[in-house]
Amino acid sequence: MTGVDPAVERRRLLRLSAATAGGVLLTASAGGRTAAGDVTVAPAEEVPPTEDLMREHGVLKRILLIYEEAERRLRHGKDLPPEALRESADIIRTFIEQYHEKLEENYIFPRLRKAGKLVDTVDVLKTQHDKGRILTRRILDGATAKGLADEHTRKRVVHAMRSFDRMYAPHEAREDTVVFPTFRDIMPAREFAEMGERFEDEEHRRFGAAGFTGIVDRVAGIERELDIYQLSKFTPHV
Ligand SMILES: [Fe+2]
Ligand SMILES: [Fe+2]
Repeated sequence: MTGVDPAVERRRLLRLSAATAGGVLLTASAGGRTAAGDVTVAPAEEVPPTEDLMREHGVLKRILLIYEEAERRLRHGKDLPPEALRESADIIRTFIEQYHEKLEENYIFPRLRKAGKLVDTVDVLKTQHDKGRILTRRILDGATAKGLADEHTRKRVVHAMRSFDRMYAPHEAREDTVVFPTFRDIMPAREFAEMGERFEDEEHRRFGAAGFTGIVDRVAGIERELDIYQLSKFTPHV
């Protein structure tokens, strides 16, 4: 039998009492001001765990696009600041491999295996996580001024980025369209909601108050440096 996790319940109550203390009012819609001038705040909507994982895939996708640009520059002998590549691989390591994939491996995959759902797919996804870590190690090792100046290392880095992109595009697409929807189907509603809270707590424990937004800001900084931030650049002239 599964009951409410007392730690999760305690945090929920703490959040509620903090939000209602000091005359700050909660409204069901967007925040604003009451007639008396009190500031109102919208309640922090809990992000479902699957949506949380999917927006993390958005970060992964943006790094795949950075790798694509980095690979293009290296193949054409164009300038690539090694720090930009290093920072990208570091986000993959700390945010995707050590956080996002750990959530999948600790919470999503075991539940699917236990329910006898997508068992073969889950095995492949886990193997791909392991391979991804090997590729990230290669990219990090080569992402120095000396490394990128050396032809052998440069080729190794290009190959690692290409393999990473080739594997993770279908990997994340399969998780978004098949794995997460199936997971949601088999999860009891209350447990699903509690998992969302647990993911959020873990996000802030690891990445501070800025959490996900802080990571997105770091990615945007790299995109600006490589001149691929402007969305309109990708609109075709048709
Ligand atoms: Fe995954
Ligand atoms: Fe994933």
